[in-house]
Amino acid sequence: MRIFVTTDKMASIVHSSYNVLPIINRLGVRLGLKDKTVTEVCESNGINTSFFLAIVNTYVNSDYFPEEELQSFPPVLIVDYLQKTHQYYINYELLKIEELLNKMLSDCEGECGNLKLIHDFFRKYKVELTNHISEEENRVFPYVLNLIENKQREPKGYSILKFEKEHSNVDEKLSDLRNLIVKYVEPKYNDNFCNEFLIALDRFETDIKDHARIEDKILVPMVLKIESALNHA
Ligand SMILES: [Fe+2]
Ligand SMILES: [Fe+2]
Repeated sequence: MRIFVTTDKMASIVHSSYNVLPIINRLGVRLGLKDKTVTEVCESNGINTSFFLAIVNTYVNSDYFPEEELQSFPPVLIVDYLQKTHQYYINYELLKIEELLNKMLSDCEGECGNLKLIHDFFRKYKVELTNHISEEENRVFPYVLNLIENKQREPKGYSILKFEKEHSNVDEKLSDLRNLIVKYVEPKYNDNFCNEFLIALDRFETDIKDHARIEDKILVPMVLKIESALNHA
């Protein structure tokens, strides 16, 4: 996979993998790109071009992660991107995956006990991920934004380290789910629904791993630096 630069055509990023579409949407880019370059599209949409490229390149190259560069962007940009990602998971991705599972269930004839267990597993996962996201939206991000804006730790004694400790590996359960399907689903399922489900799950897993990486390796160290500066003020 290549690293995209400012002079690349925005359309070439899209054609490199359509999985990148939700990422560029979150960053404020929509289709109808003509022959415009990355810089042209970003500038006409008020998007920080360097931030756009850092996020896109990180997503399309699993071994590319410009930690220092990402940590140099304003924390509000990172938080905004993370919040838009949460909205995408809650309002679209989780619903779509559940819909595909429901389609598989309603098409499966007979007992389908394992498929029902897989469905339960997903429902529990959905609750867990939704709780994780609510915690970040309701406690962590407000804490971070207040810290940046007012240079205050509110609530007192709270630290991003608490967040880091509580950041469970929600992505690992998705690979468990993929494995459950591949190994144990009864052979009475609808091929097309099942294939669609696994492809959707795989894409979601890549997205969520990338998201967790930005939280753990970018947001947390960024906030730790601000906290430490405040401690020494
Ligand atoms: Fe998150
Ligand atoms: Fe998280």
